[in-house]
Amino acid sequence: MIKFDKVSVSFSDKKDHTVNAVRNVSFEIGKGEIWGIVGTSGAGKSTLLRTVNQLQLPTGGRTIVDGVDISSLSGKELAKFRHSIGMIFQQFNLVSTKTVAQNVAFAMEIAGRSQEEIKQRVPELLELVGLADRADVYPNTLSGGQKQRVGIARAVANNPKILLCDEATSALDPETTNDVLELLKKINVKFGITIVLITHELDVVKKICQRVAVMNKGEVVELGEVFDVFTKPRHEFTKTLLSHTFDLDLPERLTQDHTKPLVRIVYNGEKAEDSIVSNVVKHYAIDVNILHGKIEYINDKPFGILIVQLIGAQDELAQGLDYLSKNTYRTEVINERN
Ligand SMILES: Nc1ncnc2c1ncn2[C@@H]1O[C@H](COP(=O)(O)OP(=O)(O)OP(=O)(O)O)[C@@H](O)[C@H]1O
Ligand SMILES: [Mg+2]
Repeated sequence: MIKFDKVSVSFSDKKDHTVNAVRNVSFEIGKGEIWGIVGTSGAGKSTLLRTVNQLQLPTGGRTIVDGVDISSLSGKELAKFRHSIGMIFQQFNLVSTKTVAQNVAFAMEIAGRSQEEIKQRVPELLELVGLADRADVYPNTLSGGQKQRVGIARAVANNPKILLCDEATSALDPETTNDVLELLKKINVKFGITIVLITHELDVVKKICQRVAVMNKGEVVELGEVFDVFTKPRHEFTKTLLSHTFDLDLPERLTQDHTKPLVRIVYNGEKAEDSIVSNVVKHYAIDVNILHGKIEYINDKPFGILIVQLIGAQDELAQGLDYLSKNTYRTEVINERN
């Protein structure tokens, strides 16, 4: 549906230095997917996203949308094409002098829809986003979550194939964020819209995205199924991003104790029910102290993180660790001396 083919974007800043905002990015987003793009500020996420509706032209490579190289479109074709892509923003960008209904209607007017069609569709859209009773109020009387719902109604008003979300939940509290994400999911399922979601919050990705690209300094450093990227991050940058998820806080006396292996075990959905830990105790002469643990859910698939201390003779410990490595998603000793 969206194919980034060696896309690069460079800017010249005031002092004529070149800023390589996006560097040689290639990946493909499938139809109907919810795809996340994560990275810290300045990573190039918005710039990459803006190449999809050509608010930004690639300076190298091509962004191909639904089989069309959009840089080849003429002015008129481009205008039409842009109506097939909706966008929502962190700051909502609503027109303050128009009511909720007028904001949504406005998007349809610009796309040349008839008044009749607008009259029929606007109430349906407001119903969809749960704001039917707010049609005639002005945006400044709405909460942040409600404003974003108007933004979503407006963005999908012209039946777009793609919805681009640039930090759409970053100005919202966690509960409202959840409501908005659920609404996006509902729209994705109901209309089959492909959604690309930029965020610096991993929780957002974890909740609704199937696949994710991690960006750092203009490059995509990691890419794949959210579950895989989160449970087996390969790049240092991703590991740092995920450190909140994986670094369960332990007192120093435990992490500084190098006499017994301190082991972080990550096990995924299927293995979660196996008694991996009790098997280690049964099969080897090892005692296991469970020190910390939690279960995370990604796309409704659970994965558990457990930190345990292993106590036993060297060869038993080696065999026990080997068993854990083979039977868990990931097992690593975290208190080894460097
Ligand atoms: N129009 C522009 N002119 C010059 N430099 C730009 C322009 N737009 C973006 N940049 C630079 O490109 C880099 C990437 O910016 P971009 O906005 O894409 O990052 P981002 O990942 O979206 O960051 P954030 O999370 O802060 O929104 C930054 O260094 C930014 O300063
Ligand atoms: Mg941005």
